[in-house]
Amino acid sequence: MLQGKSIIVGITGSVAAYKTLDLVKRLRNEGASVSVIMTASAQRFITPLSMQIASQGTIYNDMFEHPLSHVSLPAAADLFIISPASANIIGKYANAIADDMLSTTLLAYSGTVILAPAMNWRMYENPILRKQLDYLISLGIKTVGPEKGSLACGEEGIGRMADTGAIMESVYTVMTPQDLNSERVLITAGPTREHLDPVRFISNRSSGKMGYALARNAKVRGADVTLISGPVSLDAPYGVEMVRVETASEMHEAVLEKASTSSILVMCAAVSDFAPEKVETHKIEKTESMTLNLRKNPDILSAVAKLQKKPFTVGFSAESGNRIDRARQKMESKHADMIVFNDILKKDAGFDSDANEVTILDRKGEKTLPRMSKDDVAAEIFDRVVELKKI
Ligand SMILES: Cc1cc2nc3c(=O)[nH]c(=O)nc-3n(C[C@H](O)[C@H](O)[C@H](O)COP(=O)(O)O)c2cc1C
Repeated sequence: MLQGKSIIVGITGSVAAYKTLDLVKRLRNEGASVSVIMTASAQRFITPLSMQIASQGTIYNDMFEHPLSHVSLPAAADLFIISPASANIIGKYANAIADDMLSTTLLAYSGTVILAPAMNWRMYENPILRKQLDYLISLGIKTVGPEKGSLACGEEGIGRMADTGAIMESVYTVMTPQDLNSERVLITAGPTREHLDPVRFISNRSSGKMGYALARNAKVRGADVTLISGPVSLDAPYGVEMVRVETASEMHEAVLEKASTSSILVMCAAVSDFAPEKVETHKIEKTESMTLNLRKNPDILSAVAKLQKKPFTVGFSAESGNRIDRARQKMESKHADMIVFNDILKKDAGFDSDANEVTILDRKGEKTLPRMSKDDVAAEIFDRVVELKKI
């Protein structure tokens, strides 16, 4: 996603400086070239050598050792991140002070800046610091974090630097066109569980990866996102409202509660079609054989279709074999605006995989995509939603 982008990472004097090693590695893994500037205090917390290895580039710390880099580096950069951002650099930036390599380069930069403040809560809550930060925000400077939690000094409070995942999400956000910024997007993800007794349930192989990728993509494109998730072992995407459910009827209820106030609904969850007729309160005894009576679960897509205020609705259709006809039929019968079809018999795509191979169907046509990452599939789906909503 950051292929060909040039990013400056400034590091200041905070205990959180070591976390920036991981950030720099992740930026590079995404294809960015990273130039690191460390203040004198930052070098007391982490060595320039470690940062050099992580960034695979020169570490800038002395303006006079690298004459004119304070002008050439910002001229070529697409993004400037300060992680961690000390109270000192925030104060200097807000007052146009340029007394070292980092503050001078920052002042010479006119593109997007993300600050990840980190400090003791007393410093963060100081009205002088807050005023400076608010001033920078009013000029369009972006911030991520800080979070509440236990601080390096042993105290509890607000001031912990945002974690690397959150900083990466804000990087994606500032690098992505905000074409969903007026949308409220509701996404369902993962499997559901239908209980037989206190220890057993019927479920399916859905990992939730596709739905979580959709939530991340909608979020970085500026949408207000709610993710209704069945039980999965994935981290909640940054900045997304999470609603955790277990059974198909809980998912049904959660979707109907939010659907009318959403502008886009993507039903990506693998909702169990059936549930046991009866949930035993005691563990079912072992017998030679047993018969399970199942009842049909409510159909969520059909229920949404009946709403008076219906969101733009995207369904998923997982079929055994190349049954695009069945997917199109499903789109018609459930009054969906779009259906994403995938063939579950295809190897290394779909369930539990990091990749997917889908066909996107709508009333204007269809597009078969090659095998690609679920993040890329998510981007393709929302690209099409944006196109269709414009028509
Ligand atoms: C152990 C220790 C931890 C510190 N942690 C922070 C911090 O998290 N945030 C902060 O703003 N300052 C922190 N400071 C103070 C800064 O290092 C100090 O204000 C310094 O002048 C910052 O310079 P710089 O912004 O040029 O890196 C810490 C100092 C020490 C000794």
